[in-house]
Amino acid sequence: TPETRFEAENGVVSQGVVESNHAGFSGSGFVNYDNVAGSAVEFKVRSETAGPKQVTLRFANGTAVNRPLDITVNGQLAVDEQSFAGTGAWTTWQSVTVTLNLEAGENTVRATATTANGGPNLDYLEI
Ligand code: GCU
Ligand code: CA
Repeated sequence: TPETRFEAENGVVSQGVVESNHAGFSGSGFVNYDNVAGSAVEFKVRSETAGPKQVTLRFANGTAVNRPLDITVNGQLAVDEQSFAGTGAWTTWQSVTVTLNLEAGENTVRATATTANGGPNLDYLEI
């Protein structure tokens, strides 16, 4: 099945801004999370079928400090403090893959910063 990409800049951003000043992103930009705990991006993710799905998050973290995100699916915690380690530069983008149990149809996937450093810069979610 073809991959479907949900750009972070098209998500619902809470305590963050869409920016495009660090090259290498997909789409028109990325989300720069405010550097506070609780900053978040929410995606509406369609899945054809229910069940565990491999979901990729592309990000950059130009610091040396992990920027973990809690990932919820339809309001339930799915991944506790997924690690987003330093990538070496804000222009160096990497991917992490998590397994999310999705429902058939539309799902709400939210990625929320858990530390005062906020999240990484987030490019997209792909299923
Ligand atoms: C820099 C960088 C931002 C990043 C921020 C941070 O300001 O330009 O893209 O989000 O650091 O530390 O979160
Ligand atoms: Ca930030």
